[in-house]
Formats: sequence, C-alpha cells, structure tokens
Amino acid sequence: MRGYNAKVTGTNDYKDFEGADIVIVTAGLPRKPGMTREDLLNMNAQIVGTVAQNVKKFCPKAFVIVVSNPLDLMTFHMMKVTGFPTNRVFGQAGVLDSIRFRAFVAMELGVAMSDTQAMVLGGHGDTMVPLPRYSTVAGIPIGELISAERIKAISDRCADGGGEIVRLLKTGSAYYAPAAASVDMCRAVLLDEKKVLPASAYLTGQYGIKDMYIGVPVVLGAGGVEKILDLKLDATELGSLQKSASTYKEHLKILGY
Ligand code: LAC
Repeated sequence: MRGYNAKVTGTNDYKDFEGADIVIVTAGLPRKPGMTREDLLNMNAQIVGTVAQNVKKFCPKAFVIVVSNPLDLMTFHMMKVTGFPTNRVFGQAGVLDSIRFRAFVAMELGVAMSDTQAMVLGGHGDTMVPLPRYSTVAGIPIGELISAERIKAISDRCADGGGEIVRLLKTGSAYYAPAAASVDMCRAVLLDEKKVLPASAYLTGQYGIKDMYIGVPVVLGAGGVEKILDLKLDATELGSLQKSASTYKEHLKILGY
C-alpha cells in the first residue's frame, strides 16, 4: 500500500548476512515488568557475544548498531568480541530517549513534535541524563516555556519511558520507536548525513570518562562515529553523566572487563 521497495528476507542462518554494510543487533531477551535493563546482563551477554562472533566472521567491514539491552554494556561487549574499531560500533539509545523526551515536551505544550529538539545523554537506563538546557521548541529553550517542576516530571517519565511500555505490553519491550530510531542512525551512516545525534559511543577521556560506552552527542556519517561532541556541561549535568558512567563501569566488571 505504501509502495516501499525494500526486500525483506527472514533467516536463521548467519551466512545470509555475509558482506552486510551495516548490522543492527536487537538479539537478546526483553525485560519483563519490574526488571531493569541491567537484570538482562549475563543472559544477553551470551547472546550478543555469539552474534558478535558471527558479525566478525561474515561481515568484517560492517558498521554495527547495537540495540540489545543493557545497551551501553552490550555495545562495549560487541566492540570487544568483534575487535572492530570503535567508530564502527555504536549503540542506539539516545535517539530513542530524545524522541521520547520530545514527545512529552510536545504533549505538554500542545506544539508540533517536529518543532522540538532534545538531548538525552548517559546510560540507557535509570541513570540517563536528559539535558533540558539543550532542549528547545523552535529554538526556544524549554526552560522558558515549561516550569522546572514539570521539566523534572518529563525527565523522569523519559527515563522510565521504556519501563512504561514494558508494563503496558507485559510480554515484551518497545519496538516501533527503537526501530525508527535505528533506521535514523542507519540512514545517517549509509547516506553520509553527518547527523548530530546522541548515541552510545566509546569515550577516550571526553567528559572525564574513558574506556567505556555511554550516551553522548556524536556526528554520524559514512565513517560511523566521526566525532564526539564534548559539550561544556555545568557541574550538575556533568556529575549526573559521570554517575551514570560509574554505574556501568561496575557492571562491566561483572562481564569480566
Ligand atoms: C526501550 C528499550 C528498547 O527503551 O530499551 O524501550
């Protein structure tokens, strides 16, 4: 009906993605109501590890977008098991979290979603860091339009956005918005769009964080993560980002890193 020309092939055989330019990894168990994304750590590390070995074997030149949870940890695991350079392995989370934040801002003000912009950084979990100071409606900072109390409520709902859907679905987690967000990232790479988006990227000292993946603003183009933008965060924002990172540093130890 919509006339898309895509060709879709279903398979259980890794050989069928031989030579792929880009791989989007969603493999893993979804959350059940009451679970955090981190509760999935050990089970999904095994699943993602197997996928990573096959990505390395069948498409050694591919870009890899990880969507599996716990997101920032699974992205790190993917990079380690494939041994791919860090610009080619990144995680989809900030795009999704920012879209959720934008939707709540649009609903709050009764304005077009397309006029909203948002930046949500940090780990894709309860410690995520929405940045209201960098969130706007048609260029107007939301702090000028929405009370601090309501911004806090919107930030909290955003951090719990995935959990809200898990509770409603009961037997799975969100898929429409994560899929749409992944397609945005895929397009940015394949069409060399140089999009500025939040993504889980490997840090080497930016924001005082290193040797791990966490959500930060990046430029996404034909080189994958071509640049990480090092924003001048204020003390509270930076503190929240570093706190989020230290939580995941601890979890990486559980994975043996
Ligand atoms: C979410 C899952 C996909 O945030 O992490 O909905």
